[in-house]
Amino acid sequence: MENVTLCVPRPSSQQDPHKPVLARSQLPAKLEGNHVLIKVDKFGFSANNVTYQALGEAPHFRYFDFHPAPRVDEASPETHGVIPVWGFGTVVKSTHPRIQPGERVYGYFAPTKYLLVPVSPADVNKYNFHIPRPHLPADRRPYNQVVRCASDAQYDPSPIAEDLTMLYRPLFWTAFWCENWLDAFSYRDADSFLISSASAKTAFCLAYLIGKRKKTTGKSITIVGLTSKGNVGFTRGLKLYDSVVNYDALESPGELKPSTRKWLYIDVAGNDKLNERVSRHFSESGSLVAGIQLGLTNLSPSAPAASSTKFTTNTSLSAPAPSKGPFEMEQFFMPEWLAVQRTRLRVDEITAMQATAWSELMRDGRDWVRIEYVRGGIAVEQAYREVAQKGTDPTTGMVWSLWDGTEFDRKAASKL
Ligand SMILES: NC(=O)c1ccc[n+]([C@@H]2O[C@H](COP(=O)([O-])OP(=O)(O)OC[C@H]3O[C@@H](n4cnc5c(N)ncnc54)[C@H](OP(=O)(O)O)[C@@H]3O)[C@@H](O)[C@H]2O)c1
Repeated sequence: MENVTLCVPRPSSQQDPHKPVLARSQLPAKLEGNHVLIKVDKFGFSANNVTYQALGEAPHFRYFDFHPAPRVDEASPETHGVIPVWGFGTVVKSTHPRIQPGERVYGYFAPTKYLLVPVSPADVNKYNFHIPRPHLPADRRPYNQVVRCASDAQYDPSPIAEDLTMLYRPLFWTAFWCENWLDAFSYRDADSFLISSASAKTAFCLAYLIGKRKKTTGKSITIVGLTSKGNVGFTRGLKLYDSVVNYDALESPGELKPSTRKWLYIDVAGNDKLNERVSRHFSESGSLVAGIQLGLTNLSPSAPAASSTKFTTNTSLSAPAPSKGPFEMEQFFMPEWLAVQRTRLRVDEITAMQATAWSELMRDGRDWVRIEYVRGGIAVEQAYREVAQKGTDPTTGMVWSLWDGTEFDRKAASKL
């Protein structure tokens, strides 16, 4: 059986990272023991996946170490990486006695038609099974988990619910646990939030969650979004921020004038120059209590600094003292905080918190973005090139599939 996988050049290969490859490989006729073959039906794609690509070889993240590229003429594990994607699939073959063909699953898959993965033999339960990845740190376990939809309380089989799940589940839980982390430090006593790349799903989900806490606690909190000029209209239209300011207007008098307010800056853009401006802007009044690095939407696949990026979340449960001079960004990396919360909260508590938050998101966020489908290898390859060159459009939630489109054409691919 033939497989097709979207692969991208590794930064270390010195090849142009904007030029992906559709790698055609053969799947084994017979599966080894404790393996499953998943037909990857569809997956979401956003700036988050571009970050996975840009940090594919970064030592702290190693996003290319989840799914090795196939060894074929056009790609190899040494020269190419496979960008992880969150998607839905169907088990088509299984050699694990407790997993049967036909089962619907959700997980951290690859942009491919078929995904062949081993299963940890003893790590299979009613809710999920795990892909063994002993070469990766233990806190990456959530990425190794394949969710069994039939037992997933958050699963809704309608196509729109599946699409929203692929788009929001990874980003919403980042925003959710980041807000939970900030709340564990009493928001550092801040009463005002400034969020960069405010049009990104991760950013506006965070604004949504801070807004919900504002309503339930009655606290007086101001949430300001910082975004590109072209995305101001979309971001305002979400009605999740109290105000939205474009990057050029950061220093203009207005919403962001230094004042007696205490600001917490959440950086989703990952742009050093912008962060320096934010630091300078608030430095005289000393009104910035902390800067948190949450995302890196400004990373492009060819970003030279990407490989040196480091993330370590403060999990000590005591807030660092506010810095007096130019502030140093603190990091938030969701798996690290989640690993801490798993030791502090019972599983059923976490499940209940998440179930409530998810059903509210599905009620409130259905119309935040328009869903756009891209089907077939050639179309997906083209869509990837556009995203790599121009960035992602916040108004659109992209759902891609290697299936059902133009048939893979080896001649066209060889022109890349
Ligand atoms: N720390 C963690 O544990 C964690 C977990 C999940 C996600 N994240 C990160 O959160 C970030 C947001 O991801 P998302 O999927 O929510 O984003 P998204 O919805 O695809 O965001 C789209 C927005 O990102 C900005 N953007 C996109 N491409 C760009 C480019 N090439 N150059 C400059 N800006 C660009 C623009 O925002 P503006 O115009 O508003 O700047 C654009 O409107 C990613 O970097 C992701 O890795 C972090």
